[in-house]
Amino acid sequence: MVYRVWAEETMERILKKLEYTAEKIGPRFPHVTKGAEFDEKKPSFWTNGFWPGILWIAYKYTKNEKYASIAREIEEKLDIVLDEFDLIDHDAGFIWLLSAGASYRKDKNDKSRRRVLKAASFLASRFNTKGNFIRAWNSDPCVVIIDCMMNLPLLYWASNVVGDPRFRHVAEAHAKTVLKYFIRPDGSVNHIVGFDTETGEYEKVYDGQGASPDSAWSRGTAWALYGLALSYRHLKDEAFLNASKRVANFFLANLPEDMVCHWDFRVEKNADTPKDTSAAACAACGLLELSEFVSGAEGENYKEKAYQILRSLCDNYSNLDNKDDHAILFGGTGNAPKNMDINVGLIYGDYFFLEGVSRLAGNREIHWYSDEL
Ligand code: GLY
Repeated sequence: MVYRVWAEETMERILKKLEYTAEKIGPRFPHVTKGAEFDEKKPSFWTNGFWPGILWIAYKYTKNEKYASIAREIEEKLDIVLDEFDLIDHDAGFIWLLSAGASYRKDKNDKSRRRVLKAASFLASRFNTKGNFIRAWNSDPCVVIIDCMMNLPLLYWASNVVGDPRFRHVAEAHAKTVLKYFIRPDGSVNHIVGFDTETGEYEKVYDGQGASPDSAWSRGTAWALYGLALSYRHLKDEAFLNASKRVANFFLANLPEDMVCHWDFRVEKNADTPKDTSAAACAACGLLELSEFVSGAEGENYKEKAYQILRSLCDNYSNLDNKDDHAILFGGTGNAPKNMDINVGLIYGDYFFLEGVSRLAGNREIHWYSDEL
């Protein structure tokens, strides 16, 4: 109950801030803050679903048509990407589930349904039947990345809405490859794994956004935690639940006192080591998802820890009551090895913070779900 009271009050504060920032940001593609304002990316950028995803949650609570109308405008602006085959990669889930998918949930319009199905078809077509994996980027046919676990809900959506299990089969096969090659025994996670595209054989673990191939990039850990729990929701195979729990336990065991992770769990830490509030917010949502499937004290603990993370983000890393700063959270890290976007606001950090708070306030219409459609 204490969670809910806090979450409802925090929702009010977020909605108040969005009233202002929605005007400022409008139908654009915000990504990372430069100073107080978000920059803008080109339409194909992987983060372009998060702003409409935020607006649809704001709409659900306020019924303010302004939010729906900006979100719909962005959804239409994304069509150029669907029409240009070369612009799409595995991040189709992040982009269209949170834009067209969220819009379809509201009014079941056929144009949005077709957009999501088109995106799901692109994603399914990236599957390599030899290695049972979904190719990540367009630059290299042999690499697979942990982030893709969060794109699989697009395939579950397509199977649920069309009533054809083949999209789900692709997701399941990819997720099983992830269990085998990405999730380490201690619950930490590889970011990038390479496979031979002809034989499908495992080749190597690459450097990614973590400090080194065998370090533990916190956002990748969060993608795995939440993505595996979502695959359990859709597949009901205990292997995914157990893997998600293993990753969650690693994540929680390595948190600093204030519950907000550093950008990599395996770097030496001092007072200047960057945090990553986006990883913290995503992990909180993953823990709340897990708590729905884990009974008793263990499940309660996941919920309590999610609350503590969200609470710390709110108290120590948020611009909630400062409308001039467009982001809700600061302290995000985009890509530390490239020294890019350190201690910034990230639109996906804001999205997951809002999703997490809304979940604690009782929201059941989560953009990654599709069973009820
Ligand atoms: N999916 C890219 C990232 O997490 O930075």
